Amino acid sequence: MTQTGETKSDALVVFGATGDLAYKQIFPALYGLVRDEGLAVPIIGVAKQGWTLDQLKDRARASLQQHGPANDAGALGRLVDLLRYIDGDYNDPGTFTALRGELHDAKRPLHYLAIPPSLFATVAAHLSQSSSGDGARLVIEKPFGHDRQSARELGQILAKFFTEENIFRIDHYLGKEPVQNIIYTRFANPIFEPIWNRDHVRSIQITMAESFGVEDRGRFYDETGAIRDVLQNHMLQVLAILTMGPPSATDHDALRDQRASLLKAVRPLTAADVVRGQYEGYRDVPGVRPGSTVETFVAVKLDIDNWRWGGVPICIRAGKELPVTAAEVTVEFKRPPRETFGEIVPTSSAHMRFRLSPDVAIGLGARVKTPGERMSGADVELMLTRQPAADRPPYQRLLSDAMSGIDELFTRQDIIDAQWRIVDAVLNDATPLYSYPRGAWGPDEATQLIGASGPWRNPTASSR
Ligand code: BG6
Repeated sequence: MTQTGETKSDALVVFGATGDLAYKQIFPALYGLVRDEGLAVPIIGVAKQGWTLDQLKDRARASLQQHGPANDAGALGRLVDLLRYIDGDYNDPGTFTALRGELHDAKRPLHYLAIPPSLFATVAAHLSQSSSGDGARLVIEKPFGHDRQSARELGQILAKFFTEENIFRIDHYLGKEPVQNIIYTRFANPIFEPIWNRDHVRSIQITMAESFGVEDRGRFYDETGAIRDVLQNHMLQVLAILTMGPPSATDHDALRDQRASLLKAVRPLTAADVVRGQYEGYRDVPGVRPGSTVETFVAVKLDIDNWRWGGVPICIRAGKELPVTAAEVTVEFKRPPRETFGEIVPTSSAHMRFRLSPDVAIGLGARVKTPGERMSGADVELMLTRQPAADRPPYQRLLSDAMSGIDELFTRQDIIDAQWRIVDAVLNDATPLYSYPRGAWGPDEATQLIGASGPWRNPTASSR
């Protein structure tokens, strides 16, 4: 997939430079870009904290120490030297005049809005009015709205100031190496395509489990919940990549077109397809409202209404305070129409498993004969690949692409709209909330939901 002829960004502006996202993800990504790709453009932090440039530099060093690896002192020094800082209110035009001055003669700046979405419109408007937005690219982070309507409104506001090809919407799952590997494995091997459909696939499962709670993100999380936080975006992107048709062109939109087309074919969820759970103790987390009915776990059963997948149950679950931190996708193939050897064979014996985190693996499950006279067998899994966690973090890859104007790994307004369309009717309190103990695989109702399409396959802490 190619996209050439784009001019590289010649300055990078981080709004919200003193915040959490910058601390946990953006500084480590910038460090990686300086170290691996020779990034040498000015990096201008903007925030309203009353800070000095030296404080921002200290923050960058601390970020690398905690979320490193800061294994190259030279690169860290070069990163710190590139930093500039503007302290100012996002509602004050003076902030943007100062920014224009700091940008000097930059012609293709990239503005990263690591700020609450409620400020996107204000900042975009000021960028445009102050000419800091001339020739610029804009990077924004999910959540893109809190439902279909608000996502559309946000899209319309941004479109007033930036053209679609200059807006880069991050869903960091798309920048993950193992997610890219699903696409590669599917379309680099002709053997999978003939069986990748309703004739051969019995079910599809995706599990994203986290063994920790919402920790210091109580306030944010309590306005979000698992459906908006990870199902509407990360999980549906993974589903699209797993089930979309092969891209037929090599242009940068070919894959995004396939993802969009698949997501538009997913039937919108109804209350009967959803189980929401909340871990015991969630309501005691600082920032969470007393009596909150926000879900920390969600399980859904989806249908894709197209010829390839019609009738194949798709089960997805995601949650916090589950037994392990791991994400896996399993495609289960159908058993032979008749069990020739009279054995009781688990339905899950023929499968393909993509482990997305924390380590990376692709396994192909099959049944082989146990040595001896009896015609009986055991389940085995052939490992196609097994790797430690990818060393190039998704934010580094995505930021590098955005600075080069390569938009393939970013999500698009029509894709976001298709994703909200799927979950819109089951947001908020549209379905009951069940409590589950910490360390359980969500509430028991999730087991009932999957029913005969199951059982759920529980990922282990490390790849087998
Ligand atoms: C984020 C969510 O988008 O993704 C978090 O807001 C979640 O709640 C995180 O923990 C998971 O990402 P990763 O890369 O750690 O699997």
